[in-house]
Amino acid sequence: MDNLDLNRLPKHIAIIMDGNGRWAQEKGQDRLYGHFHGVQSVRNIVEAASEIGIKYLTLYAFSTENWDRPAAEVAGLMSLFVDTIAKEVPDLHKNNIKLHFIGNLSLLPDDAKAALQNATQTTANNTGLELIIALSYSSRWELIQAIKNIAEKVQTGQMQPEDIQEATLEAALSTSAFPDPELMIRTSGEYRISNFLLYQLAYAELYFTETRWPDFRKKDLIEAILDFQSRERRFGKTSLQVQTNE
Ligand code: IPE
Ligand code: IPE
Ligand code: MG
Repeated sequence: MDNLDLNRLPKHIAIIMDGNGRWAQEKGQDRLYGHFHGVQSVRNIVEAASEIGIKYLTLYAFSTENWDRPAAEVAGLMSLFVDTIAKEVPDLHKNNIKLHFIGNLSLLPDDAKAALQNATQTTANNTGLELIIALSYSSRWELIQAIKNIAEKVQTGQMQPEDIQEATLEAALSTSAFPDPELMIRTSGEYRISNFLLYQLAYAELYFTETRWPDFRKKDLIEAILDFQSRERRFGKTSLQVQTNE
């Protein structure tokens, strides 16, 4: 932690929390046992991000494609979400954390919808870490929603096709209130994006670790941030331009 340059922290970190199932199976346990332990990592990482001074943290908790998993696993995950949110909201609120949920939330069971709504409302005025949970989320779904929204504005004459800019699309995304992630972490040794924030990750630094999500802790987060701080972000320019600030 002492080695971190606090002036060069990523404002927004996004994490694909992967490897719960394999972590459990390696211990001869049911996949749900892995999801259950993954919650400890979520608690630890949210606390750590908040302590370090990260402003935005997005966690990929459940994808649109995850609905196609065996019914028992999906049901187990849904009840884990409901229980965890209910249990954690008082502490999150006490720590001044503001919760957001992005994704196709209409697909969630009613008790989950109610829990999310309660969590969002309770923490709405908090000013600390903004914790964004991607739930029933996929980037392609999000982009289609945004395009429909823009098409409707064009159809009703509120906008002309030539008015469409990057900012138009960005405003129509579910992440419109947040800056793009600067660092994206994926655990468990998978090297893919799996339909997560495809547009928003355009210039994110990507960090992959073999560590399975249930084993991921504050020290692993700090390692990822240190790695981020060792990189030169060029945004299409040359190294010389970046170094001389031209
Ligand atoms: C991530 O762990 C959690 C969710 C996708 C809900 P996985 O369940 O994908 O674990 P592995 O990848 O099968 O090990
Ligand atoms: C991505 O993990 C989704 C979440 C972590 C919520 P998956 O385990 O579903 O991704 P794939 O299937 O390996 O690409
Ligand atoms: Mg997985």
